[in-house]
Amino acid sequence: MDSAIHAEHLRKVYPHAPPGVAALEDLTLDVPKGRIYGLIGRNGAGKTTFVRIAATQLEYTSGTIEVLGLDVGREARRVRASIACIPQESRPLYFLNVDEVVYLYLKMRGLDPRDARRRTNDALAELSLTEYAKRSVQRLSGGLRRRVLCAMVLASDADVLFLDEPTTGLDPLARREVWEAIRRTSREHRTLLLTTHYLDEAEALSARLALVEEGRLMLEGTPADLRARVRYPYRVTVQAPFPEEELRSYGRVSRIEGGYLVFAREQDARELARLALERGARLSMGPVSLEDIFLEVVGRSIEEDTANSRAEEAESEYA
Ligand SMILES: Nc1ncnc2c1ncn2[C@@H]1O[C@H](COP(=O)(O)OP(=O)(O)O)[C@@H](O)[C@H]1O
Ligand SMILES: [Mg+2]
Repeated sequence: MDSAIHAEHLRKVYPHAPPGVAALEDLTLDVPKGRIYGLIGRNGAGKTTFVRIAATQLEYTSGTIEVLGLDVGREARRVRASIACIPQESRPLYFLNVDEVVYLYLKMRGLDPRDARRRTNDALAELSLTEYAKRSVQRLSGGLRRRVLCAMVLASDADVLFLDEPTTGLDPLARREVWEAIRRTSREHRTLLLTTHYLDEAEALSARLALVEEGRLMLEGTPADLRARVRYPYRVTVQAPFPEEELRSYGRVSRIEGGYLVFAREQDARELARLALERGARLSMGPVSLEDIFLEVVGRSIEEDTANSRAEEAESEYA
């Protein structure tokens, strides 16, 4: 079996949860080795709960979960030796320099000093952090700090890395920097489990994705698999007056600025595109985005209800 993480019928009910409310419900999931795996879902979907269970930080209620073939409950110590985790909203120790933070982390993981020093230097170089090595962490921007966190897990000898919302609260440029760091980390054939509610991020980075909603697995596969499994895998926009009735025979129609957005099956999308061209209407056609898929599967947008907590997270980033 070549799984990095394998969960079966995993269930988690927090103490004092309202009756019948489980944070994870019958979750069966297989994360293959050596790739970036994206766990996506709205706030409260259960992503952090899953990460904390897999990283041996939280007990589960029932089901089974293995990391690299080791039972997370019974062999927690051995699991811990092969994983590294950046928890949600974590921050590296502020009063240290960048190189000290990484070095100390490796020492705490049990590496000998020479090895720890060498790995620290390599990781800082790999993530373009060498010029900041002697800078105090508290004087870095949010994006650089997350990059330091990435350097810590990259420098570790762990085979399975957990990154829980590594870019939440960062500005777009800083997010890109962290993406690049994550991509580089994954080039070493290690497994990265990434949670995010930024769907562009999940799509840009993940070889496979799992979509969770209210603790349940809704959809799993490569981005292409996910597209193939929705009813309407294509989106067509037409910028012209079209009789809405006519458009409805092609798929699901919604009004947009200056025209219509139609979700359709491939054949219908092509036909509609041809028709629009014949009538001289401006059109665009392409596969649905992960955002579209989410909306179709969950029935709500991923951002719904998350705006408030997002603002809080962003605030805490600069606190
Ligand atoms: N320590 C806790 N005690 C009780 N309930 C919790 C705790 N942590 C999370 N929950 C609940 O479990 C559910 C899943 O939360 P979480 O795993 O943090 O979701 P996500 O990371 O996807 O936002 C939510 O309903 C949340 O309120
Ligand atoms: Mg979370």
